[in-house]
Amino acid sequence: MKMRRQSLSRTLAALLALLLPTLPSAQPVTKPAVSAGKSQAKQGPKAKVRIVATGGTIAGAQGDSGSYGYKSGTFKVEDLIQGVPHLEKLATLSGEQVVNIGSQDMNDAVWLKLASRVNALLASPDVDGLVVTHGTDTLEETAYFLDLVVKSDKPVVLVGSMRPATAVSADGPANLYNGVAVAASPEARGRGVLVVINDEIHAARNVTKMNTTNVETFHSPNRGPAGLVNTGAITWMDPVDRKHTKATEFSVKGLESLPRVDILYAHANMSPDLIEAAVEHGAQGLVIAGVGDGNMTQESIDTLEKVQKEHGVAVVRSSRVPTGLVLRDNEINDDQKGFVASGEFNPPKARVLLQLALTKTCRPERIQRMFDEY
Ligand code: DGL
Repeated sequence: MKMRRQSLSRTLAALLALLLPTLPSAQPVTKPAVSAGKSQAKQGPKAKVRIVATGGTIAGAQGDSGSYGYKSGTFKVEDLIQGVPHLEKLATLSGEQVVNIGSQDMNDAVWLKLASRVNALLASPDVDGLVVTHGTDTLEETAYFLDLVVKSDKPVVLVGSMRPATAVSADGPANLYNGVAVAASPEARGRGVLVVINDEIHAARNVTKMNTTNVETFHSPNRGPAGLVNTGAITWMDPVDRKHTKATEFSVKGLESLPRVDILYAHANMSPDLIEAAVEHGAQGLVIAGVGDGNMTQESIDTLEKVQKEHGVAVVRSSRVPTGLVLRDNEINDDQKGFVASGEFNPPKARVLLQLALTKTCRPERIQRMFDEY
């Protein structure tokens, strides 16, 4: 028996040794020099921040061999909170687990459950702000969905990581620390849903994942970050000037499901077959990740015009190109074909907005108005 205890404590010590170097340096959070845009931790009672966990790499653990491979959603929210020293100094924390999945498996049912739970928590006087821990693969989509359906000014901050919790120099603990600091900040109120990762703060509307493995992967390529945060010290940039949260016409109340919207990736010699297949499988909307300014083969354009006019399928032209706007009636006559131009929205964001737009209307001109206002 004694031998077994010894080997268990050796294993635990080894795991701690593995984890400790990855935790943010233990120096106390010094008060940042207050300058324009910086917010200093206010005195007075600590903000009440609830951490809502959904899984992802931030809660991931590597396999026994320590190889690259790891399993998302291994650790629970309590483990995440325990794994970051001084986190409790930033806010009065509580936590819950909504799901524990890799975000590649994120789906409409989880979105509806998460959004309802987030709105219920934000309505409580016992919650001043929320942190949602999430896998990075679809983090931008969940963040934007929440940005459109959350009905509160209180901060909602999504946090993920690119390295699992057991990795050398795991980035999750620092991201969670900064995420709690932002969620606890009164200046974060009214800025819409935010994403905090790699010492940057991004608006849900603008942010996208731009590198498959780097910790420096999230960017807002058209508008830049909403702020910077370093060991809890925050510098804010200009807030988003588009509709979000309480200002939107969308709600999850009474929604049992979301309209099916598929994304089709354009390329040289693109065939219209997948357009027809998506409609046959029940797509009520299609987002085209077009070449260039949201373009595609003439055959595909003709087929999209047909499904729009004969089946009422909503068609949004977005682009596979990472920056810039898809302009209306530029290379393609959207007015004539009944298409919608996505503007700044990349294909995944355009899909989120189109899903919610279709809970209100299928008329192209009304959908275009939404893409122009949000
Ligand atoms: N399985 C992926 C996910 O949960 C890993 C990516 C990550 O979380 O960083 O999104």
